[in-house]
Amino acid sequence: MEPTTKSVNELRAWNALAAHYQNIRELHLRKLFADDPTRGQRLTVEAAGLFLDYSKNRITDETLKLLVQLADESGLRERIDAMFRGDKINVTENRAVLHVALRAPKGASIVVDGQNVVPEVHAVLDKMADFSNRVRSGAWKGYTGKRIRNVINVGIGGSDLGPVMAYEALKHYSERAMTFRFVSNVDGTDFAEAVYGLEPAETLFIISSKTFTTLETMTNARTAREWSLGGLGGDEKAVAKHFVAVSTNASEVEKFGIDTSNMFEFWDWVGGRYSMDSAIGLSTMIAIGPDNFRAMLDGFHQMDEHFRTTPFDRNLPVLMGLLAVWYNDFFGAATVAVLPYEQYLKRFPAYLQQLTMESNGKHVALEGNKVSCDTGPVYWGEPGTNGQHSFYQLIHQGTRLIPCDFIAFYQTLNPLGRHHDILLANVFAQAEALAFGKTAEQVKAESTPGWLVPHRVFEGNRPSNTILAERLTPETLGKLVALYEHSVFTQGTIWNIDSFDQWGVELGKQLAQRIIPELESKEKPALNHDSSTNNLIRQYRQFKETL
Ligand code: F6P
Repeated sequence: MEPTTKSVNELRAWNALAAHYQNIRELHLRKLFADDPTRGQRLTVEAAGLFLDYSKNRITDETLKLLVQLADESGLRERIDAMFRGDKINVTENRAVLHVALRAPKGASIVVDGQNVVPEVHAVLDKMADFSNRVRSGAWKGYTGKRIRNVINVGIGGSDLGPVMAYEALKHYSERAMTFRFVSNVDGTDFAEAVYGLEPAETLFIISSKTFTTLETMTNARTAREWSLGGLGGDEKAVAKHFVAVSTNASEVEKFGIDTSNMFEFWDWVGGRYSMDSAIGLSTMIAIGPDNFRAMLDGFHQMDEHFRTTPFDRNLPVLMGLLAVWYNDFFGAATVAVLPYEQYLKRFPAYLQQLTMESNGKHVALEGNKVSCDTGPVYWGEPGTNGQHSFYQLIHQGTRLIPCDFIAFYQTLNPLGRHHDILLANVFAQAEALAFGKTAEQVKAESTPGWLVPHRVFEGNRPSNTILAERLTPETLGKLVALYEHSVFTQGTIWNIDSFDQWGVELGKQLAQRIIPELESKEKPALNHDSSTNNLIRQYRQFKETL
């Protein structure tokens, strides 16, 4: 089928889905399950070791058929091929989108501007592996000859969230004799706390920034250099032993004073939020070792291949992306909760927030016209079971529909008595309670006083996906991240938006640059903002004068 430039609400499948929605909007999951005793096995897919149960979604076979048609009519097949081929599908920045090349096996060929990029990817991986091994073994010494015991990644957005998430997720596999910390916020507290109790002589900074111009990162990097040199006697030569850079911008790295032989490169075809498996993952590799890092890349690649080659009705990321569109655009669900029942995945929802919302928070279609439907839902979440004692009340009994993704593992990395059975019982129970609820009759049958019955009724019919995998390994993490990356891609393709730019972050950056001198100048500045902003600036300046 030819890709379309039609607006999404002009597509046949979209209109069929709108009509179909009217027919099934009240249909209860209780009925869907009662009518089809095999539903719980039938609406499942297993791919690359991830098992997805999507039976507790408010869909029929007809819904699925229409959603797959929507994917076809939107040109998803062609878009997938275009991405994997290295076409410049990030049109507003005229860039290829090739995070899939970061995990392509050595012999693969992916050509950008006439050049196969896979050998470069592997050359950087080899350089990272060599460096990581030297740091881990103690062969890489600090300026005073002491070995490096602390690694601090300085970066923000995609240059921070992936490394933090991966470090937390894979802590079980990490070198426990070393300390890993992360500085992102320009709030000095972040830096102060990150270096608290650390010895400059034993501390390595990885300055991670695709552009090497980001205000927060450069401010923190300069402070890091002062802190480091301050503790090492001030000799500039110490920088080479305590600072490495991860960037696409060699000239800025050099200007900062980091020897480019201590720079780990990546490329403009890697988006910041798609970069945790590039050199941006250097801190991850030092923490878990090169073999584990490569296992993670292999996990990514397995999911890439599944996404690229599997028919849409059995394709995990496609199904998850289509379901997200179904709730977002037809049920009007504005958010998706991601609920990992795995403590190590505590930063996974935060990581997904950038991946999903910076990618699909767009109001303009590829052709520049305003989109005709709602795009990117808000992704949020916390690990279970903690969330159960906080916000689940609203998911169960509130007035809003919140589709949930539950994530759990058959095996824990920390077997302790009954903990894991209790954990898994909770995840299964939550999905069950959300779907089937508790009727007034059931509540009454428990001798509940009449006035209390409505308060204790659970309507149910609240949809969820359950994703299960054997164990949280580096490989599994790669698969999970790729699953969401490609789900985001699927959603963006349906909405016909550019999921790979982020112009929406620019205005605030520019305004901050204008305000900084207005806060710092000795002379009273002439303020030409709105009256609120002018007043806030004056308030702050007045307070500073009292110090
Ligand atoms: O927030 C905007 C953004 O450009 C993100 O897309 C990116 O991940 C982050 O800033 C950091 O950018 P850089 O790696 O260039 O410092």
